[in-house]
Amino acid sequence: MRTYRTKVAEPVDLPDREQRKAYLEQADYNVFNLDSDAVFIDLLTDSGTGAMSSEQWGALLRGDEAYAGSRGFDALKEAVSQIMGFGNVVPVHQGRGGEHLLYGALLEPGDIVLNNTHFDTTRAHIAAQGATAIDCPVVPLEQLSADRPFKGDFAVETARAHIDRVGVSRIGCIILTITNNSAAGQPVSLENIDAVADLAAEVDVPFVIDACRFAENAYFNAPDGAGELKDIARSQFDRADAIVMSGKKDGLANIGGFVAVRDDELFEEIRQRCILYEGFPSYGGLAGRDLEAMAVGLTEAVDPAYLAHRVTQVSELVERLDDLGVPVIRPAGGHAAFVDAGMIYSHLSAATFPGQALVCALYREGGIRAVELGSLAFPGTDRPELVRLALPRRMYHREHIDHVVQTFDRVLEVAEDEVGFEITDAPGQPELRHFSARLQPRD
Ligand SMILES: Cc1ncc(COP(=O)(O)O)c(C=O)c1O
Repeated sequence: MRTYRTKVAEPVDLPDREQRKAYLEQADYNVFNLDSDAVFIDLLTDSGTGAMSSEQWGALLRGDEAYAGSRGFDALKEAVSQIMGFGNVVPVHQGRGGEHLLYGALLEPGDIVLNNTHFDTTRAHIAAQGATAIDCPVVPLEQLSADRPFKGDFAVETARAHIDRVGVSRIGCIILTITNNSAAGQPVSLENIDAVADLAAEVDVPFVIDACRFAENAYFNAPDGAGELKDIARSQFDRADAIVMSGKKDGLANIGGFVAVRDDELFEEIRQRCILYEGFPSYGGLAGRDLEAMAVGLTEAVDPAYLAHRVTQVSELVERLDDLGVPVIRPAGGHAAFVDAGMIYSHLSAATFPGQALVCALYREGGIRAVELGSLAFPGTDRPELVRLALPRRMYHREHIDHVVQTFDRVLEVAEDEVGFEITDAPGQPELRHFSARLQPRD
C-alpha cells in the first residue's frame, strides 16, 4: 500500500460561504476567473497540477541549463527509451507544442485524421493544418455509462467505414489516445491498440499514440496486478510510429512534454520545427531542470504502488459519489470523476447550462473548483451535461475526498433551487468560449 507524507506544507483555507458567493459573482460565474487562493480543493485539471516527489525536486537541482547538449536531455532520452522504447526524442514545452511539431510535419491540407476521441488541442492542431479530425469512439459519449470494459477503445469498423468513404489516400495518420480523456478517461485495451496498429499498417499511414496517460492506461490492462506493469506500459508502444506526450500528466511534472518517432527523416523534420517553434532540440522550450524532473516522473509513473494509489483514489471518489446518488460515469476512468449535471438538474434545459450550475454550486457550497464539459464548453452539440472533477496526482488525501462527497450531499439537497445561467459576454472563438465567458444567474 502506498501513501504520501507532506514535506512542504502549503496552508489552504476555506473562505466562508458569503465570501465564496461574492468571489463567484466577481468571477462572472466562471471559475477560470477565480484566484487559486480562493479555491479550497482544485479539481479543474490533472494537468501539471500534481505534487512532485522528493526525487524530482532533487533532480531539479541537478538540472543543467546549457543551451545545447544538457544532461537533462540525456536523462529524458534514457527514460523514454527505457519506458517507451523510442530513441528519437524531441522535448517540447507541453503536449500541444508536440502536437504542433508532429502534425505540422505529418499532415497536408485536406487530410483526414482518425482517433478514438480527439482531445480539443489535438483537434485544433489538426484543423490548423487544414486537415479534418474524425472521432471513432467505441462507445458514444451519451452511452458512457454502459456496462462494458475498455470504453475508451477505438472503433475500428467505424474507422474502416470512414476510410472507404474518403479513400485511403486522404488518411493522414491514425491516432490512439490512451487513456481516452475526452471519453471520461476510460481506458483502451491492449487488444484494441493492436487492432488499431493493424489498421494503420493496412492503410499504410503513421500510427500515433497520444500517451498523456499511458501509465494509467497500462494499469487498467494489468488486472489484479497480473503481468509486470512496466512491460505492459512499454508494450503499448511496440507498434507505434510516433508518440506525442504531455509530461504534465503521466510525466508527473508541472510542465513539459515530448514527441518521439521511429523514422529518422521525420525525426529530423521535427527537430527543425522544434528549433523554429519551441527552442533548440535539446531543451525544447523547457528549462534544463524541467527535463530532469520529467525524466524522473516518467519512471515514477510506472511504479505499481504509485499507480494503485492513483487509480484507487479516483475510483473511490467515483464509488462514493455513486453511493450518494450522484449520477457519475462508472466504472471510473484513470484521472477524474465525470458527473452528469443534466440528471441532477432535470428542470434545467441545455440552454441554461446545467453543467455550469453544478460547477458554481460546488464552489458556492464547498470551495471546490471543477470544469464544465457540456453545453457551455461544446456549443451546438448534444453531448451530456458533464462536469469533470480531475484529481491532481499525489496532491489530495482522503479528507479532501470526504469534503468533496459532503459538498455533493449539500449540492443535491439544494438542487431544485438552481435557476441556471445565461451568457452575458463570450469573447474569442466559440470553441474556446468556456475559458473566458461571463455569465449571470437567470432571473
Ligand atoms: C489527451 C490529451 N492530449 C493532449 C493534451 C495537451 O497537453 P498540454 O495541456 O500539455 O498541452 C491533453 C491535455 O489535457 C490531453 O489530455
